[in-house]
Amino acid sequence: MPALKILVIPGSLRTGSHNARLAAAAAYQFAQAGADVSRISLGDFPLPIYDGDLQTKSGVPKNAINLKHMMSAHHGVLIVTPEYNSSVPALVKNTIDWVTRVRDAHETRGQVFRDRAFAIAAASESRLGGTRSLAALRLILAACRAPVIPNQLALSFAADAYDDMDRLKHPGDIEALNALVRQLIDVSQRMM
Ligand SMILES: Cc1cc2nc3c(=O)[nH]c(=O)nc-3n(C[C@H](O)[C@H](O)[C@H](O)COP(=O)(O)O)c2cc1C
Repeated sequence: MPALKILVIPGSLRTGSHNARLAAAAAYQFAQAGADVSRISLGDFPLPIYDGDLQTKSGVPKNAINLKHMMSAHHGVLIVTPEYNSSVPALVKNTIDWVTRVRDAHETRGQVFRDRAFAIAAASESRLGGTRSLAALRLILAACRAPVIPNQLALSFAADAYDDMDRLKHPGDIEALNALVRQLIDVSQRMM
């Protein structure tokens, strides 16, 4: 069986992002569990705000196609999203919107979402830890008919969640991340 490949996508470009930090902690756990992990920045795939006229005129931007191909090259995908005004940031939604518009010759549109397992996590300085953003993201991915695993992590009080080695320090958070990692590996393996 080929090595299991997991793609980790942080949904924030901010320097010092809590979500990028959580994505790094998750990537470490996936590697510890034996997966081949790629952690990207959406800053390397800049996209204009979706506009149907733009798509008609110029087609789907190369960065959306590249990102879709990056997703296709992995068996499982973890999206780690901030919460903005109780939902996902425009960056995350816009990226998903563009990727759903990519159509490769041998595939139906949106197949990249249906053919692999997804997991979602969020980090916020609030008590809820981005729970509402996760609910919104789950709904969006459900609309793409993506198989999203039940386990998720909403990291509360994210500024105080790590030790000085940048590892999660609260047992509940560690347990939730490990459960998410194990389940995404398990479901991704079954879908290979
Ligand atoms: C426009 C905006 C709206 C926000 N709304 C929420 C919110 O609804 N819930 C929440 O927990 N945090 C909210 N925040 C705070 C973000 O969770 C916080 O800035 C977080 O650090 C962003 O993620 P990052 O650290 O990965 O960049 C909001 C921040 C911004 C800029």
